[in-house]
Amino acid sequence: MPRPSLTLRLTLLFAAGSTVVLVILGYLVAQAVQRHFVEIDRDELLGKVELVRHMLAKPGTAADFTSMPGRMNDALIGHRHLHVRISDPAGRLLYSTPESQFPDEHFPMTSARSEASRPDVATWSHGGHALRGTMVVVDTSYAELPRVVVAVAMSIDHHVAFFQAFARTLWISIALSVLVTAILGWVAAARGLQPVRQMATVAQSISASRLHDRLGLVELPSELVDLATAFNDMLARLEDSFRRLSEFSSDLAHELKTPLSNVMTQTQVALSRPRTAEEYREVLYSSLEECDRLARTIADMLYLAKSDHGQIVSRAEQIDLANEVRELFDFYDALVEDRAVRLSCSGAASLNGDRLMIRRALSNLLSNAIAHTPAGGHVEVILQADDSGAATIRVRNEGETIPAGHLPRLFDRFYRVDPARERTTGGAGLGLAITKSIVTAHGGTISASSADGVTVFEIALPCAPTETDNANGRFAVAESSPPRR
Ligand SMILES: Nc1ncnc2c1ncn2[C@@H]1O[C@H](COP(=O)(O)OP(=O)(O)O)[C@@H](O)[C@H]1O
Ligand SMILES: [Mg+2]
Repeated sequence: MPRPSLTLRLTLLFAAGSTVVLVILGYLVAQAVQRHFVEIDRDELLGKVELVRHMLAKPGTAADFTSMPGRMNDALIGHRHLHVRISDPAGRLLYSTPESQFPDEHFPMTSARSEASRPDVATWSHGGHALRGTMVVVDTSYAELPRVVVAVAMSIDHHVAFFQAFARTLWISIALSVLVTAILGWVAAARGLQPVRQMATVAQSISASRLHDRLGLVELPSELVDLATAFNDMLARLEDSFRRLSEFSSDLAHELKTPLSNVMTQTQVALSRPRTAEEYREVLYSSLEECDRLARTIADMLYLAKSDHGQIVSRAEQIDLANEVRELFDFYDALVEDRAVRLSCSGAASLNGDRLMIRRALSNLLSNAIAHTPAGGHVEVILQADDSGAATIRVRNEGETIPAGHLPRLFDRFYRVDPARERTTGGAGLGLAITKSIVTAHGGTISASSADGVTVFEIALPCAPTETDNANGRFAVAESSPPRR
């Protein structure tokens, strides 16, 4: 079954609402008109009663009373549609106009009906005519019959005809109004929903190659601005991710291609003419270096991919960070000796995490710091633990200031501040990306700052997790580390 559209729903809602309101209104109007007719008729009937009363109130004698019907006929001669019945209080019929019929339920013969100034009015039909009548007790001047009961009735056919015509017009108008409201509702809803349809059109036209498209906010009604803004923000994020992804793959291709073409060029040159064994050996060493570089990049890529997919199974254990740093210093001491770079560590902190991963993260930061420290410089690791057990690790080195524009992108894959220089010295630009992935997997954050010849990388790790967190495999996932660049 097709889904009812919003326009249809709104239209039906308008139509139903206006139907209810207009039907109630029509009913009330019809009632008021009916009541109005009853009042008019009552006045007229009372006028007729007055006529009869006048007849009966003339100073009378016995002779007068016996001649009353005759005189009554004379008096009513001009009122052809008037029905009159006079009875005594006991219910005996004294006078009646010809062919008059007063239904017993409205006009009982036994008792007087009303003496009130506004007596009840009854409506009935007889012989194809609609009749309305009333019954009143009237004083007479006859000594033998001081009070009589007078019932008068008249045809109200003209009122009935008028009311029927009126009611028909009323209901037709109401039906038309409902129709018009429904049509207006449909037009309003269709116009009101136009921006939503435009949003859908834009959304449909968006593809990976047209991610720069945005919804216009100016002409939107206020209700839709939030939605459109959220949609535009989502597009911006998608566009950014897509850009990073495509840059990442081109970088990847480039990183893999460079060592390969180096190997190929060297080999071609070596083969171009006969060489000595020593020369061949040199070429092979050089090729081995390039292959080693290629293998390291690929291994790093694999590590990152696994870490992004939460595949690095982690054994969480209590790690004394000062101890780890000291062991790393032992390893790097030999490297820095000839450049007279000083390594130092201060403070203490411990951490619950994967020892190998944490060591790799620290080692990446240390090797960068050492590589960027000039001869005679100082590399310092500052450990800090706060009361809650959260640990902060700062790796600080003297050296060239990293321009502020590069700082936010340092942790992107393959990002190097000076690609030309660092291709020869450093790695493939994956070290910081791996460090970040590890820190993220431990629920921490990493940031870099650099000013006045001092560069600091700071890792903030939350308080040591409990055994249950470990059981839940908290470190097994590097949740929020999409390919960044
Ligand atoms: N301590 C530092 N001082 C100056 N620049 C740094 C420092 N650490 C990292 N960088 C810059 O960040 C870039 C990325 O570092 P990294 O991801 O470890 O890649 P790689 O070491 O393979 O070049 C480096 O190429 C370098 O330009
Ligand atoms: Mg590095």
